[in-house]
Amino acid sequence: MEIKESTTFILPFTVDLDLTKGIMKNPKNHIIRHASDMKGYYKNDEALKKIIQEGDPIHYEVFEVPVPNEYGHLMYCISKLYPGKIGEEYFMTKGHYHTILETGEIYLCLKGEGYMFMKTSDGQFNAQRFEPGKMVYCPPYWAHRSVNTSSKEELVSFCVYSGDAGHNYGEIETEGFPKRGMERNGKCVII
Ligand code: F6R
Ligand code: ZN
Repeated sequence: MEIKESTTFILPFTVDLDLTKGIMKNPKNHIIRHASDMKGYYKNDEALKKIIQEGDPIHYEVFEVPVPNEYGHLMYCISKLYPGKIGEEYFMTKGHYHTILETGEIYLCLKGEGYMFMKTSDGQFNAQRFEPGKMVYCPPYWAHRSVNTSSKEELVSFCVYSGDAGHNYGEIETEGFPKRGMERNGKCVII
C-alpha cells in the first residue's frame, strides 16, 4: 500500500449520534456561539444588544470529532441552530466561504425547518429549504449560512465536507449576504 504524503493514514472509527436530540456523543470539539458572538451580523443592532443584556442565550452549537485537515479526509459535524429572532430576523449562523474555495459541502437536515442561504463572490444568491430528510448540496465556491425559521424547534443538520476545506469568515463578517430571512405576518420572507 502506498501512503501519500498529502493524506495521513488513520484507523477506521465509529461515532455515536443522537438524532432526536441533535447531538454527537463524546465530541472532541464542541463550539458554542452565543448571541454576543453575533455582533454586526443582524440588521437590528439594538434588538441584538437587548437579547445579549437579557441573558445572552446560546445561538448555535457545532459538534465535531475532527479528522486530519487534509485532502482525502472527510470532515463532518452536527450543527444545531436554536429558534429565535433578532427583531424580525430569524436566528442564523455566521456563514463562511471555505478557505479552499473549490470544496463543496453536504448538509443533511435531521430536524427543524429553515433555509441554507448561499452566495458567490460575484453576487449570485441561492436559498434552499431545510426540512428533515432534505439534503442540501452546497457546491464549491458558494459561501453558506443556515437560517432557522421555526418558532419552537432547533434546526439540526449533519454536515460533511473536505478535510482540507478550512473556514473563511472574514468577508461575510464585513459584507454579509445579499438577502436576509425576516418574519412578516408569521411567515419567512427572504429580502
Ligand atoms: C462546516 C459548515 C458547518 C458550519 C456550522 C456553523 O464547513 O459549514 O458545520 O460550520 O453550521 O456555522 P458557521 O461556521 O458559519 O459559524
Ligand atoms: Zn462550510
